[in-house]
Parts: sequence; C-alpha cells; structure tokens
Amino acid sequence: MATGSPFHLGWFLGNSYGVHGWNQPWSGVDADDWTQPDLHIELAKGCERACLDFLLLEDSLFVPDNFGGSMEFYLARALRAPKNDPLPLVPLLAQATRHLGIVPTISTSFYPPYLLARLIATLDLMSKGRVGCNFVTSTAERAAQNFGLDAHLDHDLRYEMAEEFVDLVGKLWSSWDADAIVNDRETGIFVDHTKVRTIDHKGRFFASRGPLNTARPPQGRPVLIQAGGSPQGREFAARHMDCVIAALGTVEEMAAFRVDLRKRVAAAGRDPDSCKLFFVVTPTLGETNEEAQERSRRRQAQRDAMPELALAQMGSLTDIDFSTFDLDAPLAELTTNGQQGTLKRFLAQGRTLREIASNYRFGFEDAVIGTADHVAGVMAEVMQQVGGDGFVFSGALSRRYITEIVDGVVPALQRRGVVRTAYEHAHFRDNLFAF
Ligand SMILES: Cc1cc2nc3c(=O)[nH]c(=O)nc-3n(C[C@H](O)[C@H](O)[C@H](O)COP(=O)(O)O)c2cc1C
Repeated sequence: MATGSPFHLGWFLGNSYGVHGWNQPWSGVDADDWTQPDLHIELAKGCERACLDFLLLEDSLFVPDNFGGSMEFYLARALRAPKNDPLPLVPLLAQATRHLGIVPTISTSFYPPYLLARLIATLDLMSKGRVGCNFVTSTAERAAQNFGLDAHLDHDLRYEMAEEFVDLVGKLWSSWDADAIVNDRETGIFVDHTKVRTIDHKGRFFASRGPLNTARPPQGRPVLIQAGGSPQGREFAARHMDCVIAALGTVEEMAAFRVDLRKRVAAAGRDPDSCKLFFVVTPTLGETNEEAQERSRRRQAQRDAMPELALAQMGSLTDIDFSTFDLDAPLAELTTNGQQGTLKRFLAQGRTLREIASNYRFGFEDAVIGTADHVAGVMAEVMQQVGGDGFVFSGALSRRYITEIVDGVVPALQRRGVVRTAYEHAHFRDNLFAF
C-alpha cells in the first residue's frame, strides 16, 4: 500500500576505495584485502539488486594531519588514508552491473578539464550511459599543496572556478553530435566531420580548443551531482547540477534546505524539479527495535569514550585542529576556508567540543533505528513530510550492512510502494528523472 509518491535511493560510500572496517566486527578480511575491488563490486551488485539509482564514490586527495599537527592519528586508524583512486573502480563496477549509475568524485580545483571530460566520456561510453560526477571543489589545504599551491584558493573563488569548469566540460561533451559516428562502409566514412567542432573556450581560469577526441557520451551530459551546503555551493548547484546531496539531521533542516534549493533553482531560470535533492540517511538495524536501540547505545558509548575520532574527522574536513581546544569549554565561533556548510552544522550540535563530538552525526541517523520495516516506515514518512526526491544510504561499510540495507530496508520500502522495483530506462539520467 503506497504511503506517498515514489522517491529515489542511492548510496554514498564514504572513504570510498579506502580501508573499510579495520579492527571492527563483521568486517571479515575486508581490511586485509582493502586494495582489492571485491567488496565494492558486492556493494554495487547489492545496490542494483535493490534498484538504487546510483552508487557515489567519495574521494579526497591528501593524507590528513589536522589533529595534533600530525598524520599519526589518521594513519594509525586507517582514517581517510590510505585511499586508492576510485576512478579505476568505475569500469569494474559497471561491468558487474547493468542498470546502476556509478558516480566517482571529481575535484574541479585540480583535475584538468579536458582530461576529465575525456575520462568521463570514455566511462559513459563504456558503461552505455551510466556514469555521473560528484563535483567537489576540494577543501583541504593539504590537497592544494599536493598540486603545487602554498595555500588553497579562497572558498568562493573555488566555486567560481567550478562554474567555469562545468561549463567547459559541458562544451567538450557537446563538441560531437550524437550522430557524428556514421560507420558507413559503403561511403568509407566512419565519422561525419561536419558534426565535430572545436569549442575555442578562453575563460578566466581555463582555455581549451577542443573538440574532444572521443565521441559524445551516450547520456549527452553525464549526471552532475554536488554536496556543498554553503550559499555559494547551493548557488553553484542551482545553476548547474542535476542532483544535490545534503547531510542533515532533522526533518526541519531537510524541509528548509529543500525550499531554499528549489527557490535558487527557479531563480536560475530552471524548473525546480530538474535538480533532484537527496538526503543522507544512516540507519541502525536490528531483528527487533530493542536490539537496534541497543546497538545504537553501544555505538554512542564508543563515541563518548573517544571524542577525538569525531574531532579528527571534522578537522580533516574543515582544516581546523580541534586538539588545540579545551574539550569542556564553551566554543567560540570558528571559520574555515574548508567545508563551510559542514562546519556550521557541526558547531550547531552542542556548546562544548565534547558535546558536539557526542552529538556528531552524518545525515539523518537518530530517528532511523529499528527493524527494517520500522526504518522503512520512518523514511517513507519523512519523504512525505519533506517532499524531497530521495535518500542516499551511508554508514560504516561491511557485507552485513550492505545486506541490512539492500535486502532489508529497501524491500520494506518496496512493499510500501514508495521506491522502484525495476529500472525503467537504460541510462542513469533517464532513471533519475523518470519520476
Ligand atoms: C554528503 C556529502 C558528500 C561529500 N563528498 C565529498 C567528497 O567525496 N569529496 C570531497 O572532497 N568533498 C565532499 N563533500 C564536501 C562537499 O562537496 C563540499 O566541497 C563541501 O561541503 C564544501 O562546500 P561548502 O563550503 O559549500 O559546504 C561532501 C559533502 C557532503 C555533505
């Protein structure tokens, strides 16, 4: 029995092609085999079994040293490093699936636009139209230093650069018409040269003559996603993105974000429905609601025993060394040239750092604790209240967690008639905009 209009689902894989579940129960040999793609292939197959729209692969380009001024805390715990480049995973995941959208994370600050346009076009051709890009401006000073800068470009300037980056790669993807390849043995013509053009882009940050030296991607424009929550990030999304991902803790925040984003998309001259909004959801499952609550209590106790974990994580996203502050003193206002939206939400979670670390959540978490059916019910209700386009699952990756979500929560959502039970189209973009 349907309890609302249908919505979409995806998976946001934090730490992406890094180490998952090291020293954690239920992780088997995952950490020993972290360089092998098997776990990711299993995740992709699971996502497809559950008819998710896409699997998004997070990425970053540095080893953090933002906690205690050293890499030690991060490296000792395999926290954000080591991490392989996720791009080589994409063809493997595409080969193992037939419908799932696959979305690697791409830095608009450091990828040369021509190389990126060609790489994504190649992957879209290989996967027959199932690739997207999670565009990030890369927020860490250490990432900037890996690419020859002493200090990172200013936050807002990075978004200006991102705008031109997206414009340029779009032009490169359009430099071949969809019917440029005629492959006509009779006339001896493979490509009709009148359907391939230079783009002659000369901008503020980039220049590229074009055309691309491969064909137009099957989707025309692979699906563009971003997750920056600052006003600049939302403006960027409103003008250029097909999809936004927001990690918010309450229904009120989700509703407000949606109203704000749709207003910005309309102001940019677009149909508000042309930019989908997904919310991060991180459920805790159990055979009974009590069992799930008990798991959640144990995790909270672990958090409270080691606030440094949340603070080190947050430090690496905001370039702030939280080890230099008193854990129990009221915290003054902080600013960052890193992830501004993330910092704002983090600081709003308490008065002292200890409180903030204790309350630290990634997305919608506290209300989705219970049996698969209970969690599905909450998700359906939230979507009905917020009116959003869908959720992306997130959470510590293990085979157990994959099963809990794709064989537990999603079938319960399907039984409610609120998510798809089959893919409608061949291309990722068409499935994303099917409803
Ligand atoms: C759900 C989510 C996923 C993100 N994934 C990545 C990522 O893979 N790599 C990255 O560098 N930044 C990632 N970010 C950071 C954002 O893309 C963005 O760069 C950051 O929030 C800074 O933008 P802001 O100052 O506009 O908030 C993510 C943020 C969120 C909320």
